Amino acid sequence: MSGVKIGEVLVSKEQLEARVAELAAQISMDYAGRDLLVVGVLKGAVFFIADLVRQMKTPCELDFMAVSSYGSTTHSSGVVRILKDLDSPIAGRHVLVIEDVIDSGLTLSYLLRNLASRDPASLEVCTLLTKPGHRRRGLVTRYVGFDLEDVFVIGYGLDHAERFRNLPYIAVLDEHTDPPQG
Ligand code: IMP
Ligand code: MG
Repeated sequence: MSGVKIGEVLVSKEQLEARVAELAAQISMDYAGRDLLVVGVLKGAVFFIADLVRQMKTPCELDFMAVSSYGSTTHSSGVVRILKDLDSPIAGRHVLVIEDVIDSGLTLSYLLRNLASRDPASLEVCTLLTKPGHRRRGLVTRYVGFDLEDVFVIGYGLDHAERFRNLPYIAVLDEHTDPPQG
């Protein structure tokens, strides 16, 4: 038998609240007086984007994209598919992409190439979490919540096989395999 459970808490509810408020203040300053379109990447970024935009002082519009990268396992397949595209064109708009986590960076680099080809006035990224793979790749992410080590995490929007998104904190996924019986 094998299974998964909630492991060590890496980022508490209070730490999330404090960091989201800091990011919102920074974004509000940077985009003051600009026509901002915030693009959330479904589904993982939903909690983050909802908390972030409610702390922002600048007006903004919201749109969403859904992409699939992992299926239900914990390893990147390298295959990125657009499951839901934006509702409106972004040409001439200041676009801020909100991601939950950048791991290998495959999903984000695909997404950024795709969005850049639509001629936005500017294109930046705000991710709640990064992992070392992304840092090696050198993807430019303007706003980062927390840098994590190379562990699979759950909670605050992040899932394992669609579960655990509703945890109010970020924890390590504890994957355990029971020793063979007999
Ligand atoms: P990347 O393409 O390897 O950068 O992976 C990005 C996507 O994989 C994220 O948007 C998540 O949906 C998923 N992902 C990567 N790492 C984790 C994790 O630790 N927990 C949950 N989902 C993850
Ligand atoms: Mg996922």
